[in-house]
Amino acid sequence: MTTWTHIPIMAPEIASYLLINPQGIYVDGTLGLGGHTRYFLQKLSPQARIFGFDRDAKALAMAQQRTADTRLTTCHASYAQAAQVLADYGVKEVDGALFDLGLSSYQLDDPSRGFSILADGPLDMRFDSSAALSAADVVNTWGIEDLARVFADYGEERRAMQLAHAIVTARRTQRIETTGQLKQIAQQVLGPQRGRIHPATQMFQALRIACNQELEHVAKIPEVLAQILKPGARGAVLTFHSLEDRLIKNAFKTLVSGGGWKLVNKHALAPSREEIYQNRRARSAKLRIIERL
Ligand SMILES: C[S@@+](CC[C@H](N)C(=O)[O-])C[C@H]1O[C@@H](n2cnc3c(N)ncnc32)[C@H](O)[C@@H]1O
Repeated sequence: MTTWTHIPIMAPEIASYLLINPQGIYVDGTLGLGGHTRYFLQKLSPQARIFGFDRDAKALAMAQQRTADTRLTTCHASYAQAAQVLADYGVKEVDGALFDLGLSSYQLDDPSRGFSILADGPLDMRFDSSAALSAADVVNTWGIEDLARVFADYGEERRAMQLAHAIVTARRTQRIETTGQLKQIAQQVLGPQRGRIHPATQMFQALRIACNQELEHVAKIPEVLAQILKPGARGAVLTFHSLEDRLIKNAFKTLVSGGGWKLVNKHALAPSREEIYQNRRARSAKLRIIERL
């Protein structure tokens, strides 16, 4: 059996900003394999509780098993539904919430999930395996303009229209079912891998964002914070690309200018050089924290 791993990013920094009440109730909006949550639980008292959300039922099951702590309650839902789910547990407000965006290393490393350009697998990419839309559906049914927009907007891909055209042409002869097929089609436009990063990596990221409607969920974070944070409580968001970060930065600014909120740090925080050296995934991370007054 494969043992999947994911190293939590900036865990000590996030814990020091977020865990203002050792006996408090917290939300881990993106539980993943529970790396941050386990770190937090070590710092919290026996009365504390953490509600861990994830769209990925398999991740939740692994997190539950690895954490083995009755203070953790796992919730198979998007963090966008946090207020409603907490209300079902009789919880109206919490002392802090973390959103560690994007995908977990375990999802990327499992070829059967179809997230990685490096391994051949089904073109799936759904965080929630019960969700309707897979990456294969996007690639095989969306129109050329929509595909080009996704690659340009979510992947910042310069040859977005050429890629979309190559896909639409290829699918006329055969449905595109695997990451390997898509990689081959992309290579006709972008060329094969030369350096460390495959040229179609951005296109894969764009497809993942589109098929999970990730930015629509990210855009709900400020509303969720307004629904669930008690006065003095904090919300922390770890982003991994400029689209997410811009969304959060602007949304936090809007909250602050409306009154009742303050930014805990004027600028986004980044992992230390040592952390980036030890964990390459940390290199693009940015941490923003907001406090309800
Ligand atoms: C970067 S990982 C979290 C890793 C976790 N912090 C840890 O240390 O193990 C992001 C997780 O968020 C989940 N996810 C993505 N969008 C989500 C959403 N809208 N609601 C809940 N979970 C989401 C993904 O399935 C993935 O497991």
